[in-house]
Amino acid sequence: MSAPVIEVSGLAHRFKETVAVDGISFSVPAGQIFSFLGPNGAGKSTTINVLTTLLAVQQGSVKVAGFDVAEQPEEVRRSIGIVFQEETLDRDLTVWEILEFHGNLYSMPRGERRARIDEMIRLVELEKKRDVLVKHLSGGMKRRLEIARGLMTRPKVLFLDEPTLGLDPQSRIHVWDYIRQVNREGTTIFLTTHYMDEADSLSDRISIIDHGKIIASGTSRELKDALGQDIISLETGDDVNAAELLRTLPEVKDVRPGMRGFSVTITGNGAACLPPVLERLKGAGISVAAVNVKRPTLDDVFVHFTGREIRG
Ligand SMILES: Nc1ncnc2c1ncn2[C@@H]1O[C@H](COP(=O)(O)OP(=O)(O)O)[C@@H](O)[C@H]1O
Ligand SMILES: [Mg+2]
Repeated sequence: MSAPVIEVSGLAHRFKETVAVDGISFSVPAGQIFSFLGPNGAGKSTTINVLTTLLAVQQGSVKVAGFDVAEQPEEVRRSIGIVFQEETLDRDLTVWEILEFHGNLYSMPRGERRARIDEMIRLVELEKKRDVLVKHLSGGMKRRLEIARGLMTRPKVLFLDEPTLGLDPQSRIHVWDYIRQVNREGTTIFLTTHYMDEADSLSDRISIIDHGKIIASGTSRELKDALGQDIISLETGDDVNAAELLRTLPEVKDVRPGMRGFSVTITGNGAACLPPVLERLKGAGISVAAVNVKRPTLDDVFVHFTGREIRG
């Protein structure tokens, strides 16, 4: 495995009495797409802000691109690109001007800067919007422009805080494509998201974060396999008694209330376990209105580790 490009050890951060980040450690090898997946308030933005030098390191150590964030913030800033959670574009500049301004800010020589602007505008397919003011761009276009800006200086690591927050489905897919393409060309990606599908489809590795702590890490596959179980959702005529009854079956690992009816978490193969489950309910005179068997999703992984859904 490649040397880590991000190394975080024992990082903690508080705002007055609020503990936003509560002692996290992780590392990201060069060339990977690494995601922080967690609900609102989990501590994702705080972590990204410390890693990108916007917030001071209060406790723990953080190295990015080989530089210590507390000791060498300037070197870190020169090695990274950032796309913030909130839009940070000057609405009265054009697409081209945004990139020109950014390249200037980082003292990119004119020739290189101009060539890079063209390249970046092509990458995010904003050729037709080159001279259009930011205020006339759609939400998806603005995000693409922010990604282009984050990549202007050829960063080793690109940080993306909730890159598709509030975008329509088509724009999201577009943004995912750019992220993959940028990664293929060698940039390490650190992104935060509260969208399961985003973490699932983009990441080489995922850390699930909740209340400032990392509660599980691995590839999407590893996280799901770790549950070692399928989930059967049932709607019955008598959920209370059905749940009671199913708890006594050896294959049944857990019974939880769902949106409607309840979910039975089965150890092993859900399809194979279904007949005895239905048999037992039928024997007890409990009717079944609907059944669904599914492999675990990242949602289920989240529920498994936190006891609740990511939203709500
Ligand atoms: N500037 C701040 N001042 C006070 N509390 C903050 C500040 N920024 C974040 N927090 C709190 O820290 C916790 C983590 O927030 P944040 O890192 O923004 O989470 P996320 O990005 O995962 O939604 C939350 O409880 C939030 O209210
Ligand atoms: Mg956030």
